[in-house]
Amino acid sequence: MSRAIRHASTTVVRAAAQSTLDPSETKKFQLLANKWWDVQGEFAPLHSMNDLRVPFIRCVLVDNLLNVHSSRQLGRPLSGIRILDVGCGGGLLTEPLGRLGADVLGIDPVEDSIRTAELHGSFDPALMERVQYRACTLEELSEEEAEGFDAVVASEVVEHLADLDTFACCCHQVLKPGGSLFITTINKTNLSYALGIVAAERILRIVPAGTHDWEKFISPVDLERLLESSGLFVESVRGMLYNPVTGSWSWTESTAINYALHAVKQREEPPPDCAQSPAAEAHAGEPDPGAGGAPGVGAGHH
Ligand SMILES: C[S@@+](CC[C@H](N)C(=O)[O-])C[C@H]1O[C@@H](n2cnc3c(N)ncnc32)[C@H](O)[C@@H]1O
Repeated sequence: MSRAIRHASTTVVRAAAQSTLDPSETKKFQLLANKWWDVQGEFAPLHSMNDLRVPFIRCVLVDNLLNVHSSRQLGRPLSGIRILDVGCGGGLLTEPLGRLGADVLGIDPVEDSIRTAELHGSFDPALMERVQYRACTLEELSEEEAEGFDAVVASEVVEHLADLDTFACCCHQVLKPGGSLFITTINKTNLSYALGIVAAERILRIVPAGTHDWEKFISPVDLERLLESSGLFVESVRGMLYNPVTGSWSWTESTAINYALHAVKQREEPPPDCAQSPAAEAHAGEPDPGAGGAPGVGAGHH
């Protein structure tokens, strides 16, 4: 089990003691590792999901982060932003994020999927100047990439992990303060069982039988609670709906089946020399003898 230690400062430090890796899950993706770029194949819904998830990520990052990057380039709104795509598979989401100008590292524990991603990317050498792939887990990477990314993306991944506490802890670790986490996943409802497993896997065969385990689905409320206990604060949750006839996705009010979530890593506590001293706190509210003098230091400058 992961351990959570709550400090007086309200920051929560979680020690990742487990792996996110579930060997039975990676085995499933190993069998499909050369199918990623077949737009009519098993991953067709992930191809069309780009119509929602790419603009979702782009809009948030453009709104939240671009003011801190000066290297904006025409046609590349995400230039200067570093993104980690966790569970990137064959790079279906990694590539379009790279085309928007971001530097993207795609990681996946299935080596053959990473090979497929690299092979596909090699047809666009200009893109591969910004996109890199690596066969590893998030917990392996988090050791060496503390606060290394402006954003972490985990799309259709959390429902395949062994330990979500470790996942949240590692996301927090690799994100810069104020950085964004984007997740798309499946809610744990009767409807998601009926449509996501019975209809999609057994009747319509949109994805192979056994792709999903309903027990591993998570509701937005539970996911929010879990992320917040790791210092990641949820800013928005949006429902997503797949139309199996048209093969397309649309946004919906309901999060009963699929949903997208955006969370932000809280900014660090002010460094000790910026925090109010006990003496200053004691005088808080008293008239400021230095009113009109130099502005205060620290507060709000994160
Ligand atoms: C449904 S696919 C999603 C692929 C990609 N994110 C996309 O949307 O195109 C799930 C991916 O999660 C990967 N995965 C499984 N366990 C993982 C883990 N512990 N850490 C990172 N990725 C994992 C699988 O290998 C697979 O590539």
